[in-house]
Amino acid sequence: MSFENSRATSQRSHLCGALRADDAGTPVTLGGWVHRSRNLGGIVFLDLRDVAGIVQLSFGTAWASADAIAAAAAVGVESVIIVQGTVVERTAETKNPEMGTGAIEVRAISLRVVGPAVTPAIPVARGKGEKLAAEELRLRHRYLDLRRAELQESLMLRHRLAQVTRQYLSARGFLELETPILTKPTPEGARDYLVPSRVHAGEFYALPQSPQIYKQLFMIAGFDRYFQIARCFRDEDLRADRQPEFTQIDIEASFVGEEDILAVGQGLISALWREGGHEIPSAFERMTYAAAMEGYGCDRPDLRYGLHIADYTQAFRELDFGITTSVIAGGGRVRGIVVPGGAVWSRKQVDELEALAKSAGAGGLLRVKRVDGKYDGPIAKFLTPEAEQAIGLAEGALALFVAADDWISSPALDRVRQECAQRLALVKENDRQFVIVTDFPMFERDAVTGTLAAVHHPFTAPNAADMAAHPDEPHRWRALAYDIVLNGLELGGGSIRTSDPAVQSRMFSLLGIGDTADQERRFGFLLEGLRAGAPPHGGIAFGLDRIAMLLSGATSLRDVIAFPKTTTARALFEGAPSAVPANDLRDLHIRVTGAE
Ligand code: AMO
Repeated sequence: MSFENSRATSQRSHLCGALRADDAGTPVTLGGWVHRSRNLGGIVFLDLRDVAGIVQLSFGTAWASADAIAAAAAVGVESVIIVQGTVVERTAETKNPEMGTGAIEVRAISLRVVGPAVTPAIPVARGKGEKLAAEELRLRHRYLDLRRAELQESLMLRHRLAQVTRQYLSARGFLELETPILTKPTPEGARDYLVPSRVHAGEFYALPQSPQIYKQLFMIAGFDRYFQIARCFRDEDLRADRQPEFTQIDIEASFVGEEDILAVGQGLISALWREGGHEIPSAFERMTYAAAMEGYGCDRPDLRYGLHIADYTQAFRELDFGITTSVIAGGGRVRGIVVPGGAVWSRKQVDELEALAKSAGAGGLLRVKRVDGKYDGPIAKFLTPEAEQAIGLAEGALALFVAADDWISSPALDRVRQECAQRLALVKENDRQFVIVTDFPMFERDAVTGTLAAVHHPFTAPNAADMAAHPDEPHRWRALAYDIVLNGLELGGGSIRTSDPAVQSRMFSLLGIGDTADQERRFGFLLEGLRAGAPPHGGIAFGLDRIAMLLSGATSLRDVIAFPKTTTARALFEGAPSAVPANDLRDLHIRVTGAE
């Protein structure tokens, strides 16, 4: 962040962290927080911190009054003070090249404590190598943790990313339009947060999981190009890359196809990465969903390393080996990865990989390695020379297989592949592999109930050729949907929408909302809009938090969100969610049952 613009106010003349050798001789009035204090007897040093950084203040008898020195000696860390003094250049041996202000110090003559601080619950200043306090404690005292340079820099970067987004999209005719936060409950694949209505007993608003339908209505209304830096709410199980309340860069445009949206998406991502200090290719690699699932076992492939998943069914087809034979006979396949050098792993180490495969749903992980020219391991004795040749292991390599239906082997091998890459340290630092995944299936079948669910969302347009070729087999239709993925993380996703109300109505029927009255009740406002003259339209949404996390080098979304929730969706500082007095609940027509 650059602080060259003067931030002088009626109470201060300069920013602490922005002072440089050029300022030597300048009288200054500074305001900030006491970062550290050292009392050397005759002289008191305070490090004063503000939004721009830290400067050293010195209170010595040669220039400061006894009162000022006493006040400096007494002030507690993290108190807010206003000081007056003069910038002086430090002597050569006291210069600190590690500090932006290390060439100078401020000889202070007066000190006024304007915001005394109690002893901070967590330290803000840390010594080299000193660990951070436990995250729970830091979240509980977020106002203190936010004083840390790392978090300040992350939030400043986030601000710049939002600015770049606004500039990039505005320059291309996208209008920043707002959509409501109190909306209608609409199933979009994750759970709604509900808000009870006081004036309409028994009725609820939902917080938006995304502005999806509203942005489509903007297109129907003729706005042509829309964007919003939109807050979204999803009551789903949390992971490191998910928050219940997060921010999307939400985009929609009319008279477009997939390529139009992907061009804007790639351009915006390039602009954001440039702001983060990285030049990246302007056209990303492409991969179909089918190819991603086949070669990587997941729809957000990490292309930074090989270890591709391959089909070894042919090698196992003729073998006298019960597990694989019965799986193949049942229509399943034997898929696996070859790990160069993996033959040195101990049995326990490979067992750990098997445990991962099992936790991802596989029945087991078959293994064979090649040592001293020979195939070795539990399944080696079943392998014919032809099978060995088909597997084709190099010396020292280990092969790991899952025999199952694809929907079982894909997630299991994905998990194993990632773990092997970590063990072998195959991921190079600063390697950025962007990929656009296209041709997602329109529907997936719930493994338990057998019902269809939309892979992206119900408003995505199906591939017209697939619909024509397989009119009665919707599970074979692909969707006009795409994701932009970086290093195995989904940055954004979108689709071309269904603009034909009859097709949209059919989609709802296939998703189990067959009753016309039910469709109208739940999605009438979209269907009515589509009947009123809808242009072809489509869009995409990126996760701003994820992008800020990657560009700031943070490992958790919590480090780029000012007031985040914990992994159990609690706000520790404010103490939310919390119980509500019975009277308030009565006003909202709510009775709580089953709470602990
Ligand atoms: P989707 O659900 O794929 O698409 O979300 C788009 C992007 O939002 C980010 N994201 C999240 N970030 C943090 N925490 C979460 N819980 C979370 N969930 C999603 C991801 C994701 O790629 N309406 C569609 C977009 C469209 O079709 O235009 C949508 O919301 O980076």
